[in-house]
Amino acid sequence: IRIPTPENDPIRAYAPGSEERASLKARIEELAASPTEVPCIIGGEEVFTGNVHEMRSPHDHSLVLGHYHAAGPDEVRRAIEAANDAWQSWSRTAWVDRASIFLRGADLLTGAKWRDTLNASTMLLQSKTVFQAEIDAACELVDFWRFNCHFAEGIYAEQPLSAPGMWNRSEYRPLEGFVYAVSPFNFTSIGGNLSGAPAMMGNTVLWKPSNTAVLSNYFVMRLMEAAGLPAGVINFIPGDPVEVTDVVLASPDFAGLHFTGSTHVFQMFWERIGKNISQYRSYPRIVGETGGKDFIVAHPSADPDALRTAMIRGAFEFQGQKCSAASRAYVPRSVWDRMKDGLIEQTRSIAMGDPADFRNFMGAVIDEKSFKKLAGYLERAKEAEGVEILAGGGCDDSKGWFVEPTLILADDPRYETMCEELFGPVLTIHVYEDGEWEAVLELCDSTSPYALTGAVFSDDREAARQAMDALRHAAGNFYINDKPTGAVVGQQPFGGSRASGTNDKAGSPMNLLRWVSARSIKETF
Ligand code: SER
Repeated sequence: IRIPTPENDPIRAYAPGSEERASLKARIEELAASPTEVPCIIGGEEVFTGNVHEMRSPHDHSLVLGHYHAAGPDEVRRAIEAANDAWQSWSRTAWVDRASIFLRGADLLTGAKWRDTLNASTMLLQSKTVFQAEIDAACELVDFWRFNCHFAEGIYAEQPLSAPGMWNRSEYRPLEGFVYAVSPFNFTSIGGNLSGAPAMMGNTVLWKPSNTAVLSNYFVMRLMEAAGLPAGVINFIPGDPVEVTDVVLASPDFAGLHFTGSTHVFQMFWERIGKNISQYRSYPRIVGETGGKDFIVAHPSADPDALRTAMIRGAFEFQGQKCSAASRAYVPRSVWDRMKDGLIEQTRSIAMGDPADFRNFMGAVIDEKSFKKLAGYLERAKEAEGVEILAGGGCDDSKGWFVEPTLILADDPRYETMCEELFGPVLTIHVYEDGEWEAVLELCDSTSPYALTGAVFSDDREAARQAMDALRHAAGNFYINDKPTGAVVGQQPFGGSRASGTNDKAGSPMNLLRWVSARSIKETF
């Protein structure tokens, strides 16, 4: 059986006056006006626990989008039972039948009904602009599901050598137990992939979405059900992370963690899993994508215009809330002198506000915690010696959690905003002397514990090669003359190492292979 090689889902323009814009706008208004009640979904059933939490829009404190029902220990135990029950048949379901569900889900998401719902809910509760939502909740999710099916075909087709008198084969069994998917707020598609990829490979899943992205993630769950996902294969359990996780990790049936989130939380998982290790039936698969302190390093031969665009887009698109966002830049003085004014001017001209106004380039940051963290960095930067705020620097929480796109110039290349992950629209720049190219590469490599994405700008091929070599372990996704963001499924498998994660490349066969446990079979005739 062959699944056609997918093409990436085209990004829609939502042009003024277009039907697609009118339809999306109508869905935004509808979701904003009629609050949604989000239950847990356990064994295919809606479970209203009564432990309700508000879903409030980050860009408008007065906009409540509804409530979600948090799972407590009892519901988590029920979800484990449901996953184990479903495992009996799902783990034996032919992969083509599993694939047909995700292919159908992807197709449904190309139609207005589901696309508008996922985009609108992502815009409203995660404060994403229309293009940010379209790229994430629509295109990337379609791509994850279609490409996963395509990659699975290759995995199942791969077989060892046989010889006359013997037949060797590999059976790619699902894991023996359930997978725990813990997804972040910043990408709706990641929730659909963290839960969907293990399920595609025959596993059953407990999915705990981020509490700040529950609405869109709930609709992703609904979409998978509409596509035919059987009851109990994925169980949707929003709730308190510690409370839910405690019950999950105590189960002997815990077989894998599929995580995207902070380095700190991921390290806690490793510790907890390590402590419980003797209780599990198998060694759990631990797959995580965590933080980043992603860099742009420019060579004196770099094109200042291309560099400026990459800095703006890399740092400020998605409010800088991408683990891949450019947050530190090393620019040689000769290039800096030619680009500085344009960079400042362009940063100041960025439109920020309610994403329902399609002209805005940025929305708000996700919540109060993030706002306060960013405000703290900006306050300290205003006071620090040898540190200058070139653009932005302001925060305004009167209507929502708005942080201005900010450029910081730091004399000290190890100033805190050059080293630490802020997860917001702040780019710190260090200007170096033109002759110090090799030293700056060494500096870039050693400044942060992360290694997710990075970019080199250079018109000199040899300098680009030097950067590739010196920064060989500094980024799992490396860009030459492009911004360090915007990896596309099927084109640039995504993930990093060091403190950035296990580098199991989301949207690739490498990731899918983590969700199977192969049995080698030799049959002698
Ligand atoms: N995949 C996204 C990017 O490359 C980040 O999650 O920007």
